[in-house]
Amino acid sequence: MSKSLQAIRGMNDTLPEQTPLWRYFESKVSRLLDNYGYKQIRMPIVEFTELFKRSIGEVTDIVEKEMYTFEDRNGDSLTLRPEGTAACVRAVLEHGLTGGGQVQKLWYIGPMFRHERPQKGRYRQFHQIGVEVFNLDGPDIDAELIVLTWRLWGELGIRDAVKLELNSLGTSEARARYRAALVEYLSSRLSELDEDSQRRLKSNPLRVLDTKNADTQAVLVDAPKLVDYLDEESRVHFEGLKARLDAAGIPYTINPKLVRGLDYYSKTVFEWVTDKLGAQGTVCAGGRYDGLVEQMGGKPTSGVGFAMGIERLILMLETLEQIPEEIARQVDVYLCAFGEAAELAALALSERVRDQLPNLRLQINAGAGSFKSQFKKADKSGALYALILGDDELAQQVVGLKPLRGQGEQQTIAWDALSEHLATCVVQG
Ligand code: HAM
Repeated sequence: MSKSLQAIRGMNDTLPEQTPLWRYFESKVSRLLDNYGYKQIRMPIVEFTELFKRSIGEVTDIVEKEMYTFEDRNGDSLTLRPEGTAACVRAVLEHGLTGGGQVQKLWYIGPMFRHERPQKGRYRQFHQIGVEVFNLDGPDIDAELIVLTWRLWGELGIRDAVKLELNSLGTSEARARYRAALVEYLSSRLSELDEDSQRRLKSNPLRVLDTKNADTQAVLVDAPKLVDYLDEESRVHFEGLKARLDAAGIPYTINPKLVRGLDYYSKTVFEWVTDKLGAQGTVCAGGRYDGLVEQMGGKPTSGVGFAMGIERLILMLETLEQIPEEIARQVDVYLCAFGEAAELAALALSERVRDQLPNLRLQINAGAGSFKSQFKKADKSGALYALILGDDELAQQVVGLKPLRGQGEQQTIAWDALSEHLATCVVQG
């Protein structure tokens, strides 16, 4: 027997009962970004592998072991994008969008791919909404990115469950000096480090700072601190950001160990974390990457951005029961018709009603069926009302309007008056 076909591990279907919540979330975020003056950009899902190696960094977990890379029929090495920043920078450069110091405030949404070990909140295909800003180098824009996410948490009803962690990585020169000091210190205590940290010490020493190993964490207590190596420019920038967050009343904690898993960051880095989701608690993360555009062949151009994980935020809404009632109901009115002549009239009538009430969610019964079975379907649809059209109604050019959710008696409405009547009882806005 042939093996039954299944989705790839860590790559999920979003089923019809889940999509209303996704669409609610997506529309909240896109409206908010519109209101702050961000414009959407759409990039391909597949890019040349080289793009990610050059931007994210050769010795990061993502590039070393998590990318979906394959050769296409031309022999080119291609990769399913593991994140959006690299492709966004590529697109901006390719189309000259940041030329002459032009400011760009961009956002994107879509699937990303990482070959990680799947668990709750961590998938191999997941979805991000990301924001990237180019050619604004002051802390005011870093603050705006944080303020707008804070507003989003408020609108979604999850503000109390997320915390902001902040750090500054300094310029790349400052980081290089710090890296040297850290390597010197950790090398002197090499035997006390766990195996993974010993390996990272050689490839990407800053990542030792976010080890989960308790022994290594103990060694880190006396390690040199990044903040002591910050250059003056980064320090002033960071102070500027903190002052703005204080003024906006946004609580945060400084986490000196926050280094992030991608190599392109400089100055500000931040993460919004929650303890409501278990191990995968970062719902949104980002920072500044002032050197990246140049590193990818462009003129020096500052950049800052973040991305949020949609699956994690959907899980938050479910866990905290912040699912708005309006998305639970998908149908306003369900039209039942009995007999061929009534079905023909029902179709014409429903189209007339749709012309007059474009926002009405009207579902017309398909597949005929007895009175009982159509009624059952009407009720299951979640509609507020059933419209009933049989031979008697047809002869009199009326419909029966039956409340399904306990609001009063059945009424008889003339076809001509139907839209007006429905407008008063179901259509809002
Ligand atoms: P990142 O921290 O790798 O940053 O990912 C951002 C967010 O995507 C995470 O905080 C998490 O919510 C979500 N995420 C990441 N991996 C997974 C996964 N395997 N399953 C589910 N959700 C996941 C970036 O991607 C940067 N490009 C962010 C950025 C934009 N920095 C500057 N601009």
